[in-house]
Order: sequence, then structure tokens, then C-alpha cells
Amino acid sequence: MCGIVGYVGSRPVVDLLIGGLRRLEYRGYDSTGVAFFSGQTLQVRKSEGKLENVEKLLQADATRFADARSGIGHTRWATHGKPTTQNAHPHEVGDVVLVHNGIIENYQDIKAELARHGRHPRSETDSELFGFLVQDELDAGREFVEAMRRAFGKIRGQASIVAMCRREPGRVVGVRNGSPLVVARDPSGGVLFASDAQPVLEYTRDVIFLENGDVAVGDDSGLRILELATGREVRREATRLDWSPERLDKGGYPHYMLKEIHEQPVALIDTLNALLDRAKTDAFPMAPQPGVELLAKARELVLVACGTSYHAALLGKYWIESLARLPVQVELASEFRYRDPVVGADSVVLGISQSGETADTLAVIRDMRARGVPTLGVTNVRGSTLAREAQAVFYTSAGPEIGVAATKTFLSQCLAMLLFAGSLGVKRNPAHRARVEALFHQLVKLPHLLESALEDQGPLTQAIRNACGSVQEAKGFFFIGRGTSYPVALEGALKLKEIAYIHAEGYAAGELKHGPIAMIDDQMIVVVLAPRDAWRDKTISNLEEVKSRGARILGVGASADESLRSLCDFWVPVPDAMDESLLPFVLTPVMQLLSYELACLKGTDVDKPRNLAKSVTVE
Ligand code: AGP
Repeated sequence: MCGIVGYVGSRPVVDLLIGGLRRLEYRGYDSTGVAFFSGQTLQVRKSEGKLENVEKLLQADATRFADARSGIGHTRWATHGKPTTQNAHPHEVGDVVLVHNGIIENYQDIKAELARHGRHPRSETDSELFGFLVQDELDAGREFVEAMRRAFGKIRGQASIVAMCRREPGRVVGVRNGSPLVVARDPSGGVLFASDAQPVLEYTRDVIFLENGDVAVGDDSGLRILELATGREVRREATRLDWSPERLDKGGYPHYMLKEIHEQPVALIDTLNALLDRAKTDAFPMAPQPGVELLAKARELVLVACGTSYHAALLGKYWIESLARLPVQVELASEFRYRDPVVGADSVVLGISQSGETADTLAVIRDMRARGVPTLGVTNVRGSTLAREAQAVFYTSAGPEIGVAATKTFLSQCLAMLLFAGSLGVKRNPAHRARVEALFHQLVKLPHLLESALEDQGPLTQAIRNACGSVQEAKGFFFIGRGTSYPVALEGALKLKEIAYIHAEGYAAGELKHGPIAMIDDQMIVVVLAPRDAWRDKTISNLEEVKSRGARILGVGASADESLRSLCDFWVPVPDAMDESLLPFVLTPVMQLLSYELACLKGTDVDKPRNLAKSVTVE
């Protein structure tokens, strides 16, 4: 949550900060601000609402600030205090100006201590309090970097802070302790700071992912990294990223989300290439990497995740149990971390997180490591905290995902799960070898099939658009499915809530009669996922149950399934004739496009839905 950007060097900093914040808006967008030195004068512009508001504030003075060369910026996802201008970052306290991502857990103690001395912060945030701590150190005669280090020693919690000081205007200091922070050397001289690599890629692909407890100092003499605890200089190697800046733009689509839905075939190809050894011709040949061995040793897998990633984990359970006959538990990280779970001696805990920064998922991984349990991660972000803290990591290769609603990262996670299932299946379950081999041959063709299915004027996309025109006024939606269509139904309901703000529930179709069916009337749309698989006929019985109670049915099934089609008020055909393990890969885009079209009809902010953020770095 919250995006930080900072710079000191030879480039005009105001444009750089605004451009950087635009790349980071997905991390939070309820208020925004920048601070920079114009000559020796500190300027702060901030506002509630989105970045445009700050841009307007700056427009009047654009030429006046063309000389500014050092500054920091922030886009906020509120934790402490409402999303107001007063609570927006940067916070200015005495000589100090700072931006913060994370939570200062002992903020009440600090606030009480300040109040005892008659000092009162202007905002309701925990972040501003840090400024008082630094100012006290400056007043005690310390230099800025030393003051930052000492002040950090007085706070508890997960926080990354980037700050500047009136006494040393050409210096930016960033501390990482929990929340992610990257730094990079600008090839034309200067130092870049950001919450993730995206704002930096425009200038360089060589990025340093700071470790917890690192202090990065950028000034005239370049970049230095010090240990927070001792102040000693340390060396950190840069990671070369393969994400090009062009992939961060909308590429002609009206929204990032739509672009990212259409990028799914490429995301699948790239993930296949990253996780498999494509030089080999046998089924599911995993590319050699440390995680493969750990996975093969597991006698039970515990998959831990949140939100959409949790749905990928649920699909993983169906596939791994069925193809590899390996027991799988699926757990919500936010619950698992506060239970006292029993984890078997030969279990492996695998955290799934597109961002690799989700606080609850990371907490489970840390806790399990501390207990000596082997841990794995699946993430889309190189250098993310999950990648560094799990014992071994598998990378999906969906490329940067800007839309807050996960789309291509989800499908890539699903693919990772299926690849684990297939490769473990080959080793553990010789009886199913022929089935696994046949599945693999279909899997490698899947990206092409999906690409044709997603064609803009194709039958699938047209059918979704037609249906949306008629269902947009519904009171609510149920998404139902059985087997692997059940996690897809959960994901469909989550997407619709997230971006269209329409009430939706996802259910295992067999569960409706145990209570939720009481909600059904003619104002309700039931989206029935009934592709041709082992569960189709049972799902159709559930369809009949809700239809007879007045629900209007939006059916999603095999294009040739005329008997299912005849039962539906609205019909979306998906490609037929494929191994049923692959069906979630064609059903999911239907869920995504349905939510997308309904959100557009409602006129919501599709890429930045209200109250959400892309990386949920607070619990
Ligand atoms: C997805 O559309 C959501 N924005 C959200 O549920 C997300 O999947 C969840 O916060 C987990 O994120 P992660 O994959 O980065 O851990």
C-alpha cells in the first residue's frame, strides 16, 4: 500500500516525480503529494484525491520549478486517518519532510510523549510522528543521515520512509524496514528511489532491491547504502529487470485491465517458458531451479494466499490432488497466521502472491521458516519480499500488471499450479501418465486457443457485451460452479464486486440449496459455469433449481452445448473439446470481461477501483 518515489540528480525533478507517481498509483490513490527543493526553498504540494489534483496545483508554477533537482513524492492508501489533504504525504515537521509506506505500530506512545511536551502533529497519521523524532535528533546536533538512523530505532512496525532535510537540500535518504523500497543509479547521474521498480524502468533496468535494515543515501556523490543498525556501508548488487517501459503503457486499450486481459495468452507463454525446460519433449519438464527439489520432497502441500491468489490456490488443490495424488490444504493467510496450525513433518508451505508483498502471506512464510517448515513462493515480482524470504521461489512471467484487479497474474498463477500438478503427477502417479501426457500436449496449445477466444469481435466477447446490456440493472449476481469451476465462480464474484461495485456471491453450485437459494428471485442473475466436464450434469440440476425460482440465467458452457444453451436467458460460449483441467483458463477471461463490461457501463474507475490497492502491505 502507498507508493513512494524520490530522486536527486540532474533531471528536472517535478516531472520525474509526477511520472513516477503515475506508475505507482495502483498502490493507493486516495491522496497524493510531492515535496522538492527549488533552490534552497522547500516546496510541498499535496491534495486529497488522485494525482491530477496535485498536477493542477503545480501547473501555475511549472516554469518556476523547472530548476528543482531533488524531491520526494507519495500516493496514499489510508491506514491511519482519513484520506484528506492534511493527512496526505509528504509531511513536513521542522526541517524534515518525509513520505512513508507501512505502519508505525507504537504511534500512540510517540504521540502521547509529544503531547506531554505540548507538541501536536497537524495530521492524524502515524507517519508525521516520525518527522518529530528526526527533528529531535537534528536539534541534538546530529547530521541528517544519523538523525534518520536514530529516529528509526525508536519506531516499531513495518515501515519504509524516504525523507529530505532543509539543512542538506541535495540529499535524499530512504530506509527500508518491511515495506518494499528500491533504489537505482540514474545513468545520467543521480539516484532514484521507489516503492517498486516501475517508476525506475524508464531510466534504467538495473535496480537494487533494498534489504530490510538498509539506509540508502543519494546525493552529489551518488548512492551509498548503509546498515541501519551500525551505519557501516554495505554493498548491494543490482538486479537487471527484463520488463520494458513500453509494457507499462495502455497500448491503445481504454483501460489497463482490458489490455491485461488480452495479454493473458502471452503471459501464459512467458510463464510456460520460465517454469518449464522447453528443450525437453517429455510432459511437464520443470526447468531446473531450487524450488523443484523441495516440491518433489513434499508429502503434503499447504497453499497460503489472499484474495484472487487464494482462488488460484483452490484450483491448485483440485489439480495437484487429482494429477499427483498429493494431499493439499488451502488456507487464507490472514486466518492461518493467527491459528496454531498443525503442519506435518514432511509438509511444504507455499505462499502465492502476485505482488510478493502481501503482509498476511509474508507473515505465514516467516512464521513457518521460524518453525523450520520448508517454504516456497510463487510471485510475479522479482526481488519482492516473498521471493527473498521463502526458501525458494517460482516466478510467473505475466509482466507488469497495473490494473488493480488481478487478471493476467491470476491466470499465470493458475498455470504455475497446473505445472506443479503435472510435473508431480509424472513422478508420483505412473498410472495417470498417459492422461498427464495428453494434458501437456493440449496445454502448450492453450495460449493460441485463448488468443482466438479473446478476439475483439469474436463470439465470446460479443456474447458478453450483449448479455451485459440486459443484466446491468440486476439486484445482484450469484456465480455458481462445481469442481474447478467453483474457484472460477468465486473469482467471478470477487471481480464484479471489486470493479463494478455490484453485489455478487460465488458459491459451489451444490451449496445453494443449503441457504443462499432463499435469495433467489427474478431480480437476481445467476451466472452458471457448466462447461463440458465431470460436473456439468450436476450443475445443470442446480441451474434448474434457481431457474424455477425465477432467477435469470447467464450460462457459460461449451459452444456446442445446445441443451444447456436452451435453459439460459443469456449465453456465453467457450471453446469446447479440451481436457477439463484446462477449462478454468477459458472460463476465467469470461468472468473478467463480464465484470469489465459491467464496470464500464456503470462508469466506475476500472483500473483504480475505490478503497483498493494493488499490494496490500498492511494486515
Ligand atoms: C485481486 O483482484 C485483488 N485486488 C486482491 O484480492 C489480491 O488478489 C489480494 O490482495 C492478494 O494480492 P497478492 O496476490 O499480491 O498477494
